[in-house]
Amino acid sequence: MFNPERIITDRARAVNASGIRRVFDLAAKLKDPINLSIGQPDFDVPASIKEAAIDAIRNGFNRYTVTQGIPELREKVRTQIGRELTNWSGQTDGQDFGVLITSGVSGGLLLALLACAGPGDEVLIPDPYFVMYKHLVTLVGATPVFVDTYPDFQVTAQRIEPHVTGRTKMLLFNTPSNPTGVVATDQACR
Ligand SMILES: Cc1ncc(COP(=O)(O)O)c(C=O)c1O
Repeated sequence: MFNPERIITDRARAVNASGIRRVFDLAAKLKDPINLSIGQPDFDVPASIKEAAIDAIRNGFNRYTVTQGIPELREKVRTQIGRELTNWSGQTDGQDFGVLITSGVSGGLLLALLACAGPGDEVLIPDPYFVMYKHLVTLVGATPVFVDTYPDFQVTAQRIEPHVTGRTKMLLFNTPSNPTGVVATDQACR
């Protein structure tokens, strides 16, 4: 028998409403609120980027690509990351694991978590963290473990190390950080 209450899975029900959405709802009732919530740039997309996008579409460059992303783009990303990070080649045992192009970060994170973490695994999340991280980890059945980074919000080895256990699979690390804006420094990470 069809039971409408069973449409939404327990997995989806386990994700509680994001705090940011609750703040949106509250702010909607304020008169002239200043919106500091979502990371919308306060400047327009540069004209050269708009033109490049339009040129690409006009030239028929608007179809499916190979799944992992256009090789030339992946190579440029690899070179850029290689310039910014030391000891990173994008290769493990001669196999190329380094760069995957996705449409947005959320999809990439979900794929990475689905591929690497599941029930019984722990995923380290420096706190404060982007609102979705905890829920992404819960969705794949893994356990989020929060690493306090107050008061300077740097993700340091000293802060991470006490939380590493035999079950730790991943560290969700992003720089600059959202929401703090802190940029990781080489010195702080040691
Ligand atoms: C730290 C962080 N992770 C993930 C996301 C999600 O990115 P996307 O909108 O590309 O899916 C954002 C978006 O602002 C973010 O700031």
